[in-house]
Amino acid sequence: MPDRIAPELKHQLQQAHLQALEFRRAIKQFDPTQPLAPEDFRFICQAARLAPSSNGIEPWNIVVLREPKLRAEFVERTGLNPDQGIDASHLVAITAKTAKGIDPDTSPYLAHIAETVKGMTPDAVATWRPRFKQFLVHKVGVWGSQDATFGYTARQAYIALSNMMTAAALIQVDSCALEGLAYAEANAVLAEAGLINLETDRFAVAAVFGYRAADPKRPQQRRPLGEVVIYS
Ligand SMILES: Cc1cc2nc3c(=O)[nH]c(=O)nc-3n(C[C@H](O)[C@H](O)[C@H](O)COP(=O)(O)O)c2cc1C
Repeated sequence: MPDRIAPELKHQLQQAHLQALEFRRAIKQFDPTQPLAPEDFRFICQAARLAPSSNGIEPWNIVVLREPKLRAEFVERTGLNPDQGIDASHLVAITAKTAKGIDPDTSPYLAHIAETVKGMTPDAVATWRPRFKQFLVHKVGVWGSQDATFGYTARQAYIALSNMMTAAALIQVDSCALEGLAYAEANAVLAEAGLINLETDRFAVAAVFGYRAADPKRPQQRRPLGEVVIYS
């Protein structure tokens, strides 16, 4: 196989990537005096934007909770830990599409993806819609169940989340994914603030980004590679 990348550069990139993955820890306490540079947060958001998704439908949004009052309300009502939710530089709520949000027959969002983002012709869109529906019904088998369909879109949203945390770690920005919170309240706060329409979009997972105030108590603990990877 031909070399696609100079061996020296490959080695450097591999080391940098592994170091970033080792640097990334679930940070419990953030330094409230250290904001992220806007361009660093933008870089992290670009990583979400470029994440892959099933059928390329990007069924997520990154909602950045900027206003202190709204952010405090989100933290309070969802029961998030203020050491993370308030003290970190940025708090984001990642939302995913509901079944209505990606309904192949009716969703304006899907039309937008097909026509504008993918640049498909009206004829191509007309063939793609039923094909995508068949995919949801027969391949992933989620159509017909609101929960299963949201599970399908939320799985994609987690890929965007993962991209964000890895991008952050590459520039030594700390983060923590946050699932330990009241989902109904998260949805209510976002909807009341007019940030999402619950018919088409729902809260999937939150994350914070910033700089650590304290190192994690334990070293990173993982199973060895030989246990994780199973070869046939
Ligand atoms: C989807 C997801 C949700 C998580 N939810 C929380 C959370 O609500 N609160 C928290 O402190 N950590 C949360 N974590 C962090 C994990 O507990 C942490 O990643 C795991 O224990 C491994 O530690 P490490 O990330 O430092 O290597 C979450 C991680 C993921 C991937």
